[in-house]
Amino acid sequence: MIQKILPHDFIKMKKAGKKIIMVTAYTYYQAKVADEVGIDGILVGDSLGMVIMGYTSTLPVTFEEVLHHVRAVVNAKPKALIVADMPFLSYEVSTSDAVRNAGMFLKAGADAVKLEGGSEITNKVEALVKAGIPVMGHIGLNPQRYLVTGGYKLRGKKAEDALQIVESARALQEAGVFSIVIENTAAQVAEEVTKQLKVPTICIGAGPSCDGQILVFHDVVGLNPSPPYFARQYADAYGLFKNALANYLKDVKEGRFPGSMEFKMMSDEEERKFYEMLRRRGLA
Ligand code: KIV
Repeated sequence: MIQKILPHDFIKMKKAGKKIIMVTAYTYYQAKVADEVGIDGILVGDSLGMVIMGYTSTLPVTFEEVLHHVRAVVNAKPKALIVADMPFLSYEVSTSDAVRNAGMFLKAGADAVKLEGGSEITNKVEALVKAGIPVMGHIGLNPQRYLVTGGYKLRGKKAEDALQIVESARALQEAGVFSIVIENTAAQVAEEVTKQLKVPTICIGAGPSCDGQILVFHDVVGLNPSPPYFARQYADAYGLFKNALANYLKDVKEGRFPGSMEFKMMSDEEERKFYEMLRRRGLA
């Protein structure tokens, strides 16, 4: 029996000094492959809006869209912790909305939810934790707020901003999160937050001192032709897919596909009967 990773295991990993490694995934096979290599946590991120749907931001992503992809990831039955991302407007309007929507993710098989925001969302975090829903925080760059923060800028470059990030991290821990993503933030700020917190920090573009790392699946495998500066590409999946499809197209056009091993025939006897029947009905 595989030992499922649960939210409290992330805290144990921090205590043991073991790096927590996460990746986003949105489909059954993405989750399978991530789990097979031993990834600790899978985030069904609202980044799906950009890498799956082709939106230019995460703002149009709906609760139903994330739920759909949570179901696909859950079907892979990963050992990895499954975190469902709360998309824009699924938790801002009211605490009851937040609890209902997050609860629906748990009912679909997610192990936890993630919310963007700092001190301003601690009332929502408290309500979710009270309802038995494990919450991952997300501070630093919050892509759902890019319109009010002036774009996808590096956070924590200035001392006041850095201080605000530390205060948000502490407030989220106090509210009950089991871990916090820190995105696109000056490395010293992430290091300080990591030192101050008991719960683990999971970084994306926030330097090497966090308790864990996360990247977007498409950036890791090279399916996104314009990845952010902080992602490292480990394959050229775009090129690989393109080459495979171009070869398929060529083979069909030039009569090489399907080949003799790629289709089945009826027996000679059944073929004889078939043509006999067609003739009798005047169809041949
Ligand atoms: O949606 C997402 O993929 C995320 C990661 C960038 C952490 O929130």
